[in-house]
Amino acid sequence: MKLKFLGHSCFELTESKNILIDPFISGNPAAPGVELKPDIIAVTHAHSDHFGDTAELAVKHKCKVVSIHEISKYLGARGIPCEGMNKGGTITIDGVDFTMTEAVHSSSFRDFDGGCPAGFVIRDKTSVYHAGDTALFWDMKLIKELYHPEIALLPIGDRYTMGIREAATAASWLNPKIVVPMHYGTYPSIKQSPQEFAERVLSLCDSEVVILKPGEGFEY
Ligand code: NI
Ligand code: MN
Repeated sequence: MKLKFLGHSCFELTESKNILIDPFISGNPAAPGVELKPDIIAVTHAHSDHFGDTAELAVKHKCKVVSIHEISKYLGARGIPCEGMNKGGTITIDGVDFTMTEAVHSSSFRDFDGGCPAGFVIRDKTSVYHAGDTALFWDMKLIKELYHPEIALLPIGDRYTMGIREAATAASWLNPKIVVPMHYGTYPSIKQSPQEFAERVLSLCDSEVVILKPGEGFEY
């Protein structure tokens, strides 16, 4: 699988399909300006730094959107095909499994009810957990037990999500092969040291922390 970090919480996963998660592109000071070609867009919650350009990209690329029921209703009312779901469920879109997981956060966007925030475990061939925006919560242990993600994408920015201490504990509970920190540094209010996060993870478990600059990625 090819994984590319597109700034903030936006990632592109390319295996049998091209999957874009939380496409906050326009207005994102950290967006690297790469060409996008999504088959499927997954949105964790309605905050504009995650919902971002979902509607425009879905129309442009004629791709499907997967999100919580309330966001799917919003998109559906605007003629955008959306696979609505809710936490605890798994759906398969074009051979890729999307499991919606808990996230402890809020979710709203201008004039619509965004429902609840969520995370995803996405399984094309490789299994990737995108935590969305969240606090540390005990049931991350269930995500490990049930889905065994090989790669975990965890927010470390603090203030609006987990900070370094909480995210490092999350990494140790999930104990994936690779952890990628996200949701930091985009704005001064969420400035964090990813190196400090990596050191803390290293002291707790044997997961490898891969620090990516926007536009960078790796093959797994
Ligand atoms: Ni948020
Ligand atoms: Mn956010």
